[in-house]
Amino acid sequence: MAKIALTGIKPTGTPHLGNYLGMIKPALELTRSFQALYFIADYHALTTTRDRNQLNNWVYEVAATWLALGLDPERVVFYRQSDIREIFEFAWILACFTSKGLLNRAHAYKASVEENLSAGKGADDNLNMGLYNYPVLMAADILLFGTDVVPVGLDQRQHLEIVRDIAVRVNARLGKVLKVPQALIQEQVMTISGLDGRKMSKNYRNTIPIFADPKTIRRQVMRIETDSKHPDEPKNPDKCNVFAIWRHFAPPDAVENKRQLYGRGGLVYSDMKQELCELLLTKFGADHQVYKNYLKNTSAIDRILKRGAKKARTIAEPVLAKIRRKIGIAK
Ligand code: TRP
Repeated sequence: MAKIALTGIKPTGTPHLGNYLGMIKPALELTRSFQALYFIADYHALTTTRDRNQLNNWVYEVAATWLALGLDPERVVFYRQSDIREIFEFAWILACFTSKGLLNRAHAYKASVEENLSAGKGADDNLNMGLYNYPVLMAADILLFGTDVVPVGLDQRQHLEIVRDIAVRVNARLGKVLKVPQALIQEQVMTISGLDGRKMSKNYRNTIPIFADPKTIRRQVMRIETDSKHPDEPKNPDKCNVFAIWRHFAPPDAVENKRQLYGRGGLVYSDMKQELCELLLTKFGADHQVYKNYLKNTSAIDRILKRGAKKARTIAEPVLAKIRRKIGIAK
């Protein structure tokens, strides 16, 4: 049987090029050699999102993005986390096996506490238990499906370590019931820089969306920050925010030539931006149509996700039933 690759996509923003290179592209490649289970982590998004329309839109944008970029719902089990009730029951069970200290050490929680303290507020001010339990829900997402590998970005490394810890602890108590998964972190494309050279992230508002009308793409590309070197001066491609994005989409020999042009001098940043625009519009133009069609017809997305949920539940049910017996909740 094929090994299982599983990952969750949190619907908290319009997917951008950083998501594409760091996550979507490698995850779609994995679907060729693994049985893939990919899902929209809508209940994880609830730890931060309170606007129902916003959450709804993001769920559809994320689903439409993956489908337009080639996720084949016949081969990939593609579903909404909230459709799988077994995950939430399992999350409670796992919480009872998780030491509080483990969660105290989680980066996301610690960062929020530190932010509070440095703002002179109480440590737990405005922190909800969803944020605190976030890694436990992730553990349920992953461990309920006998997952072998979890393709994620670098920011999720610690979460995956916590998930492994939880699995080991449950196994120590109940016998080998859970597979201990591996994180699969894409080293070479770990961080894609954004318009300002910092990591491309919705938190920094420095992103370029994957799918947007050409005007929006152009506007964002024109906003990429460059230095004030004269066109004739030699430049360092590795210090150029335009090159940093462009090189991921250009053919390898073009990248080599462009490096030389930077070094020789004569490169004009605005030409380079123009080229990046063209490259992005060519690469994503056709899929953009498919994306728009999905967003016009969200009931097609609903149907796909419901079918995925059905398949996912047939995997989850026997695993949960076995655990329930092991802990003495069922005979
Ligand atoms: N926490 C992940 C993120 O922020 C999303 C996620 C939820 C996830 N459940 C998961 C990723 C299970 C991998 C496996 O992006």
